[in-house]
Amino acid sequence: TRDGEHGLRTPIVAVLGHVDHGKTSLLDKIRGSTVIEGEAGAITQHIGATAIPLDVVSKVAGSLIDPSDFDLPGLLFIDTPGHHSFTTLRSRGGALADIAILVVDVNDGFQPQTLEAINILKQSQTPFVVAANKIDTVPGWKPNEDAPIQQTKEAQSDRASSMLDEKLYEVIGELSDEGFTADMYWRVQDFRGNIGVVPVSAETGEGIPDLLTVLMGLAQRYMKEDMAIDVTGPGAGTVLEVKEEKGFGTTLDVVLYDGTIREDETIVVGGMDDPIVTDVRAILKPRPLAEIRTEDRFEKVEEIAAASGVKIAAPELDRAMAGAPVRVVRDRDIEEVIAEVRAEL
Ligand code: GTP
Ligand code: MG
Repeated sequence: TRDGEHGLRTPIVAVLGHVDHGKTSLLDKIRGSTVIEGEAGAITQHIGATAIPLDVVSKVAGSLIDPSDFDLPGLLFIDTPGHHSFTTLRSRGGALADIAILVVDVNDGFQPQTLEAINILKQSQTPFVVAANKIDTVPGWKPNEDAPIQQTKEAQSDRASSMLDEKLYEVIGELSDEGFTADMYWRVQDFRGNIGVVPVSAETGEGIPDLLTVLMGLAQRYMKEDMAIDVTGPGAGTVLEVKEEKGFGTTLDVVLYDGTIREDETIVVGGMDDPIVTDVRAILKPRPLAEIRTEDRFEKVEEIAAASGVKIAAPELDRAMAGAPVRVVRDRDIEEVIAEVRAEL
């Protein structure tokens, strides 16, 4: 739902890939922010979440998208760390996703965490597209800021254009080594059986209209086929981080992937000891386009629907754990919900 209206649930899009291949930069380009500058050594160390409303998606995609073709409220992007030590965070991010973007640096090709990410996506059978990033670094490339890929490709020299093709075919070959049939995205008819490769630059914005268009198409089809359209049930989510927040004490950054959560409702949260049973004191929503990891101005709301990144304030959260499940009890038997949470730890 769109904050309560009837419609499709906001799809969750995980961004996965090897360290430094440009996941955070890609999201920065889409949301018009510079989250990467605030990261220690420009390394992502936590899972992030950013809601991108449909009007922004369609603005960035420009002429490639007709927003009236979609009844999705937008997309919730999950940023994940590519550094090798964060395997758990990558699987957690992958497990939350409805669809995914696998980011591959066209110069580096497949690297260890690219393969790790592919295995996560295979296991969870998550449909994905490949963003072949950093095309602006092809020798002789003349950037056309924010242009769709066909348009900028036609404006390149034959040499630069064929150099890019060469790199893209290497990526397609590497995907085929992993057992996927893949092709340039504009030749792909069925994105569930075939992997589309979208050439992009997070630096210049080239190809990003294409990437968003492919994602929206994939999300729309996938959500219609497989996902619960009605998200009014008791909320279910995963804790991203446990954080002190001025005036609120210990809070949880949560990705709510199903249902709704309301102020004053009883929730069960996985903890270091027994599951924690507590009442929601406040639901704090980041502004649209804000990364929950860095947001400092939250809006207090009475209720929020999936999928969203949200901060939850409640008493007794000190021993809550990142990665743990969060469940709204509502009209269910509390012992059953506690057992459910315990089973997931
Ligand atoms: P981790 O989160 O640590 O896994 O890295 P990441 O995948 O989020 O990569 P990040 O966005 O931090 O980018 C790594 C470096 O590549 C930064 O210096 C970016 O400025 C640079 N970079 C990212 N995308 C592009 C691109 O399209 N072109 C160029 N030239 N540089 C890029
Ligand atoms: Mg990053």
